[in-house]
Amino acid sequence: MRLFTALLLLVLVFIVAAAQRGKRQRQENSRGRRRLNSIKHLADRCKEYIENGDKFLDCQDCHLTAVQFGWPEDIDHLLLAQNRIKVLKDNTFSHFRNLLSLDLQLNEISLIEEGAFSGLTKLTTLLLQHNHLQVVSEAMFIPLPRLRFLRLHDNPWTCNCELDSLVRFLQVPSNRHLGNFAKCAEPTRFWGQQLKTLDPKFLCLPSMQAQIQLPRLHSDTTLLCRTHDSPKPLLDCRSRGLKAVPRDIPENTAKIDLAFNNITALKPKVFTTIKDLKLLNLSSNSLEHIETAAFAGLLHLRELDLSNNSLHYFNYGVLEDLYYLRTLYLGGNPWICDYNIHYLIYWLKHHPAVEYTGLMCSEPEEYQGWSVESYVKTYNAECPKDKQVDLHRGTGPTVSTSQELIAVMEEDPGLLPSPLRKKEPNKFEIFRLS
Ligand SMILES: *[C@@H]1O[C@H](CO)[C@@H](O)[C@H](O)[C@H]1NC(C)=O
Ligand SMILES: *[C@@H]1O[C@H](CO)[C@@H](O)[C@H](O)[C@H]1NC(C)=O
Ligand SMILES: *[C@@H]1O[C@H](CO)[C@@H](O)[C@H](O)[C@H]1NC(C)=O
Repeated sequence: MRLFTALLLLVLVFIVAAAQRGKRQRQENSRGRRRLNSIKHLADRCKEYIENGDKFLDCQDCHLTAVQFGWPEDIDHLLLAQNRIKVLKDNTFSHFRNLLSLDLQLNEISLIEEGAFSGLTKLTTLLLQHNHLQVVSEAMFIPLPRLRFLRLHDNPWTCNCELDSLVRFLQVPSNRHLGNFAKCAEPTRFWGQQLKTLDPKFLCLPSMQAQIQLPRLHSDTTLLCRTHDSPKPLLDCRSRGLKAVPRDIPENTAKIDLAFNNITALKPKVFTTIKDLKLLNLSSNSLEHIETAAFAGLLHLRELDLSNNSLHYFNYGVLEDLYYLRTLYLGGNPWICDYNIHYLIYWLKHHPAVEYTGLMCSEPEEYQGWSVESYVKTYNAECPKDKQVDLHRGTGPTVSTSQELIAVMEEDPGLLPSPLRKKEPNKFEIFRLS
């Protein structure tokens, strides 16, 4: 009897669940249809639509690295989740005067300038969770008087004195819906603590800072290298026979001299903790391989010396983190002038403020002694037909000039030129009838 009742109950629960699912689906279908009618496809694959009288611009998962010009400005909701945005500069959104919500979750944002959100006087909802933020200042929220919902969780917050203003801001009673569940990732003593409940008076205590620094005294770096503190913190690790970048480089280091060592490869994220680094000297090592993301976090690096190494080309994407780079020393490397080198030239072309030296082909023989730029120019000047390559593996349009190709590469580094690494043999043979 009891078994029968249990069975009956189970069947009932199942029927109710199925009925609800049906209803939800019908609702979704009708909403989908309504949406479809009014969707406008913008050239860059964003979708614009109206729902319940609100205008949406949906640019989710479009491989964007920045907000682009020419987007409609009268929108209420801007969806930018799941892109590759790393930096939000001042006034990025200032022309979207009506904006009520801004979704930036699941990007790679590590830097937000103080005026990034200026002009958003109507904004109520700002989603910044799942990014790479370590520090932001409360000042960036000043232009947002109506902000009611703010998501900051799943960012690697560094709970030190720089975060003091944000922590105090989140703890104001009227801001109770702002920044819930955001936690410290660093330093170790605050790991896992919520910004909402952290006692801000501990963030800026000099004695705490000193204690946090303590374990560093016996690290690799301090044993192997000399540190000079004036005028800017400098780490002199020159000619120490190092085979890898030392661990535990002090976070406030501004210059590192690693010249004349035996470093052969750079692994991803070896410098991420040293975010104030301005000069990195890796001259006269045996560098052959630099992995993508090796320079991640070096947002403020201005000079990079890679001269006198064994580099053949740069992996696609290696230079993307170096926003403020001004000088790049590349001499004394055996650069190979084939398709792999195009990324470097492309990057340099798009960063005209970067000065560089020493970019000469050493292989193949036909280009020996040429500058790499001349090689790329010659390559681009060839008959475009010779280079027709189907980027979309048979489904998309054929890309025929290197400019278009580069545009596609920029949109989607995942679509890497792997089929393009080598020049493809001609797909067509031409027979002359004469
Ligand atoms: C690099 O390693 C080689 C042999 O492994 C050694 O002879 C040479 O002195 C090293 N160079 C430096 C700068 O330490
Ligand atoms: C890097 O070190 C080498 C060797 O000491 C030196 O010649 C070069 O000028 C340094 N580069 C920079 C940018 O300071
Ligand atoms: C590169 O190496 C050569 C030979 O080892 C040396 O003469 C030259 O000074 C080095 N250049 C730099 C910039 O260190």
